Amino acid sequence: MADAFPILMLVERPSQWLLDGLDDRYDLRRAPGPGITVAITGGGEGIDAATIDACPDLKLIAVCAVGYDKTDVAHAKARGIAVTNTPDVLTDDVADLALALMLCVARKIPIHDRYVREGRWPREGSPPLTRKLTGQKIGILGLGRIGHAIAERVKPIAGEIAYYARSEKPGLEWRFFADPVALAAWADMLVVAVAGGAGTAGLVSREVIAALGPKGVLINIARGSVVDERALVEALMSGALGGAGLDVFADEPNVPKALLGLESVVLLPHMGSATRETRAAMAKLTLDNVEAFIAGRPLLTPVE
Ligand code: GLV
Repeated sequence: MADAFPILMLVERPSQWLLDGLDDRYDLRRAPGPGITVAITGGGEGIDAATIDACPDLKLIAVCAVGYDKTDVAHAKARGIAVTNTPDVLTDDVADLALALMLCVARKIPIHDRYVREGRWPREGSPPLTRKLTGQKIGILGLGRIGHAIAERVKPIAGEIAYYARSEKPGLEWRFFADPVALAAWADMLVVAVAGGAGTAGLVSREVIAALGPKGVLINIARGSVVDERALVEALMSGALGGAGLDVFADEPNVPKALLGLESVVLLPHMGSATRETRAAMAKLTLDNVEAFIAGRPLLTPVE
């Protein structure tokens, strides 16, 4: 039998689908070193320049996530190393979760679930009223695959939809804003759907948050780095921002303590793609890329 193929496994808690696919044809290594041509990593872990350089024979980095902001892609490219990710297969789940967060914040669903569990309904009667989602003006920051899928989901209920992107997309019925502050000033809810990384760090600035205002809501299913988190927390605490639904944070898994006591926020543990179906599909796409590389076939989803 041929020697098992060495793979650097940098996913902290690989899914069962990933592990099942990496059978005894592969030799999983946890530490970088010579002789390793393939590394598998996750969106949260990534691989930095030093780790890349500690693998002098590396040729492929397969990221089991759509976001590769924690991987030094520029350094990999400079060394002639290909990078793949897992686009498309998780778009539905992330867009579904954005819609769920919008509903949860507007209708205060987690708070009212707690209200029932704590036995407060019989004692205190109906809880305070919430806000209607249907008819709201929805701003989408970033109209890539996921932003587009969010727009399609809210289309039947939104009053109006508008978006910010680096440039206007032709042939769309939705209004374009070239400035995130102007989009936030227009929107009732602003949904963050841009990729993470240096290019979008702090795009949701103090000014954007102020423009959303006391009745505005921020939804973030993208990356914590996109938002000025300190400004966000201050605005939520003072009431300068109406509410937020957050699946992602600047320093995961740490969530600013000040948010934990606020009823205006819904907090999730970065679970946009966390369904059985999608995690299986992500593992399969990651492994299909690895197998294509080993067989000398074109990669399925290279990061360009
Ligand atoms: C999740 O955040 C991903 O990038 O796939």
